[in-house]
Amino acid sequence: MTTRYFSENLLAGRTAFVTGGGTGITGGIARELASYGARVALVSRRMENLEAAARLIQDAGGEAFAVAADVRDAAQIENAFNLTREKFGDINIVVNGAAGNFLCPASELSPNGFGTVIDIDLKGTFNVCRAAFDDLKKSGGCILNISATLQYLGTPLQIHASAAKAGVDALTKNLAVEWGRFQIRTNAIAPGPIGDTEGVKRLVPEHVKDKLIKRIPVGRMGVIDDIAQTAVFLCSDAAAYINGAIIVVDGGQWLAASSLVGE
Ligand code: COA
Repeated sequence: MTTRYFSENLLAGRTAFVTGGGTGITGGIARELASYGARVALVSRRMENLEAAARLIQDAGGEAFAVAADVRDAAQIENAFNLTREKFGDINIVVNGAAGNFLCPASELSPNGFGTVIDIDLKGTFNVCRAAFDDLKKSGGCILNISATLQYLGTPLQIHASAAKAGVDALTKNLAVEWGRFQIRTNAIAPGPIGDTEGVKRLVPEHVKDKLIKRIPVGRMGVIDDIAQTAVFLCSDAAAYINGAIIVVDGGQWLAASSLVGE
């Protein structure tokens, strides 16, 4: 059981639409939103992951519903919104966590490989925000995008993901400005290396891990809960005046990336 930092009914009566909601960081965010009373629609390509994730939430006493949709396909997303609305009513919270990534040198990356990650991370985020607009306008809701810190520096083997996440940051700021007047808040979390995720398993080779940890000022990798607690705060009324913020949650890792902390 994770520590309860907020009041129990913080998100009661709200409906959250969480993409990539089955596993990893967004799975953790979905569980935490549900634990504070939000009804959660879990949306991603693979139904098997989603159903297991929905069961976890239901077993803990929360309300969750799994819907398979690819964020690259606007019609599938529209359908997922319709199903969520029928089941849980208007959507108040949108979390864009669906992402694809792999390590590849720019010199070997195919145009389709580059485009695929842009399509999922960046265009997918736009597709979902666009489809959510009417609901969020009605409910004065919020958007939370999951970004990264890769794009703050030049990160080898990550040109595709860095470009996509730089786009997600731009989209976060633009929507904050365009949609703020409808009382829609748009923010992002930029997670650093989160140890208990598929992303770190896939992207941080074992022999690099110890060196990486030594360079994180707080001396540890993050855990999914570090991101989930920030997400609960940003999606709650406690963050009512936060709009267009990109909150880095990385223990100070990227700021120290070129320093000799721990050397
Ligand atoms: N290295 C280089 N190129 C790669 C690659 C890799 N490891 N994995 C995929 N690609 C390229 C493919 O070769 C293809 O390009 P091509 O047609 O020129 O050959 C292109 O990317 C699309 O690949 P495909 O497998 O058809 O796409 P997909 O839509 O099924 O999968 C990915 C999407 C590529 C993001 C895939 O890695 C994936 O589904 N990952 C799981 C989810 C994930 O990554 N989560 C994030 C963890 S941080």
